[in-house]
Amino acid sequence: MQLGYLIPTVLAGVLALSGCGGEAPAPAVPTAPVPTVEELQPPYNEADVDAGKSLFGRQCASCHYVAAGKGHLVGPNLHGVFERGTGKAAGYNSYSPALKNFEHKVWTPELVDQWLLAPQGFVPGTGMFFNGLKNPEERRDLIAYLLIESRKP
Ligand code: HEC
Repeated sequence: MQLGYLIPTVLAGVLALSGCGGEAPAPAVPTAPVPTVEELQPPYNEADVDAGKSLFGRQCASCHYVAAGKGHLVGPNLHGVFERGTGKAAGYNSYSPALKNFEHKVWTPELVDQWLLAPQGFVPGTGMFFNGLKNPEERRDLIAYLLIESRKP
């Protein structure tokens, strides 16, 4: 008997469709509309998003969720990361002073690119212990994946 979960599922769908519907749980962070690869700014519009997804799974997923409402791991949840300030994930209490005091207001794709190249070099004293992704194509693919995935409701 499937009805038990069908009804809430349908209801959630209706509430989601109604946009700012009163009772729908708010997403963790307000995000921009979900772009397609083609809509991304160069060079991300030429990225291989599947390769980016696989890279995320191998290199980032042990420390980061990206899905809304999934909470934090060792690192902060990356949902809505391009719409929020550096060191500003709500409910994440383990930021290093280095990232908390980092002067940049928002994580742009350019900033994430420099960060992923060498986190320790870009923000000395950061608590993200990750050697960096030296291959520019891998960073492009990964950032394109994040630009899409981090905006999914
Ligand atoms: C070993 C765990 C670990 C791995 C692996 C890791 N991160 Fe992180 N990440 C962290 C931690 C911890 C922080 C917070 C750093 C700080 O406060 O200095 C962080 C911070 C970040 C931030 C800044 C978020 C914010 O809210 O300001 C981004 C973006 C990020 N990581 C992306 C990635 C990506 C993409 C990968 C994969 C290439 C990755 N991280 C791999 C642990 C990790």
